[in-house]
Amino acid sequence: AALGVVIVAAGRGERLGADRPKAFVELGGRTLLEHAVGTVVSLDRPGQLVLVVPEGRAAEALEIADAALPAERSWQISVVNGGRERHESVRNGLDALRDGIETVLVHDAARPLTPAEVFERVAEEVQRTGDGIIPAMPVVDTLKRVDIAGRVRSTADRRILAAVQTPQGFPFEVLAAAHESAQAREEAVAPSNDAPTDDAEVVQRFGGTVRTVPGDARAHKVTTPVDLLMLQGLLLADEA
Ligand code: CTP
Ligand code: MG
Repeated sequence: AALGVVIVAAGRGERLGADRPKAFVELGGRTLLEHAVGTVVSLDRPGQLVLVVPEGRAAEALEIADAALPAERSWQISVVNGGRERHESVRNGLDALRDGIETVLVHDAARPLTPAEVFERVAEEVQRTGDGIIPAMPVVDTLKRVDIAGRVRSTADRRILAAVQTPQGFPFEVLAAAHESAQAREEAVAPSNDAPTDDAEVVQRFGGTVRTVPGDARAHKVTTPVDLLMLQGLLLADEA
């Protein structure tokens, strides 16, 4: 089954606060984007990889992808510009996938150390079930509902909550139709102030079924500087 992978790397990285977009920040001597691309093109199946990058970064992204490609070049690579919100970037990526893609995985460049086995696990489960599949981790903190005045209202039941990661996988037609429907709704109503923060949300609003598979601590997302330190620690532990 033909696999398409969209890596979204077009965010500004405001919370990280670096001097460049987050996907182009280095971790252990390689940019976050290089790490993510390297893992995808190492997957043991042919496919199409679309990189969604900030305006002005396409040439650099193509170079990164070319350098990462194994000699047999089994992956076809495209680079497109991102949008204002993450879901708009995903849409641009989906538009660049060729006909014949059956399964699509959408991955954050901001999760640079996500192991290949998570990609495999998600893709296999999409193909086996036909559902949307997302990696999930148990929630470790105690979660409180808090009002705008900062007063604690209640404690959420952690057993029915999960912290979800990427890659998130879907039958291509399902994700494409869900994004098209969301876009049509946005254009008909008003630009929403409840933008979906992941693709599972887009598919669920569309009425699709999404299930979880085990996530992986190494799929941790770089959001603030402390996350980079944590991933540097993982790299060092791997070398040791
Ligand atoms: N992303 C994107 N296009 C956007 C916004 C986000 O491609 N308009 C991507 C980011 O590059 C990242 C992933 O979506 O790989 C997850 O988003 P997030 O962690 O929020 O990254 P940023 O939006 O870059 O960070 P911030 O919100 O702190 O600015
Ligand atoms: Mg963001």
